Amino acid sequence: MSDNERAWQAASQVKATNVTWHFSHVGRDSREQLLNQKGATLWFTGLSASGKSTIAFTLEHLLIEKGYMPYVLDGDNVRQGLNKNLGFSADDRAENIRRIGEVARLFADAGLITMTSFISPYRMDRDRVRDLHDEANVPFLEIFVDTPIAVCEDRDPKGLYQRARAGEIKMFTGIDDPYEPPLEPEIVIRADQLDPPACAKVIIERLQDMGITNINGARPAV
Ligand code: ADX
Repeated sequence: MSDNERAWQAASQVKATNVTWHFSHVGRDSREQLLNQKGATLWFTGLSASGKSTIAFTLEHLLIEKGYMPYVLDGDNVRQGLNKNLGFSADDRAENIRRIGEVARLFADAGLITMTSFISPYRMDRDRVRDLHDEANVPFLEIFVDTPIAVCEDRDPKGLYQRARAGEIKMFTGIDDPYEPPLEPEIVIRADQLDPPACAKVIIERLQDMGITNINGARPAV
């Protein structure tokens, strides 16, 4: 068993017994009709400072302006609340991604266009989250923000790369911890070549093509 598999198994251990699913009286489609959109998860992955959060929040703004209901689950934000008891070991990253995968699935079930902005460096962790969504029949788009590490390190908005190079931060992704790029992402964004609004536009057009926005056909195309 690989370290990744062991980490995921540890994170997914079932201790809650004697619980029964309580079904809602309405289906997801009722909520989606109200919102004129399909619930979906847009999973942004990429190095720290690659531009994931900037693009996700720009897209959120654009979607709100067009009358849709998105929400961004951001790694740095979630790690100050729900996931503040997790660090950056492979096990803790697996639990970070498992939890947020479950939260994203719930938000998407609520009908929201849910964006997650986490480095999510391990392919297996991301694949498990994709499986969770497939099981629930919720659209899942993996969006690889493919910014070269040299560019991320040059930007270094929080000064973390510099501190990692100096040995002050251990297990820093891209420096002394791995990043496994997606093999078949739905969308690849070169955030070093396009500005955030242009990146957001690429994604919003894909949402329109996939029938995730404007499901009632009542609004002009985005
Ligand atoms: S993940 O790997 O578990 O998906 P996540 O996206 O939640 O990471 O958090 C990454 C953010 O935590 C980075 O943007 C950075 O601000 C901060 N951070 C602190 N320590 C590390 C580290 N060792 N590796 C990567 N990011 C770190």
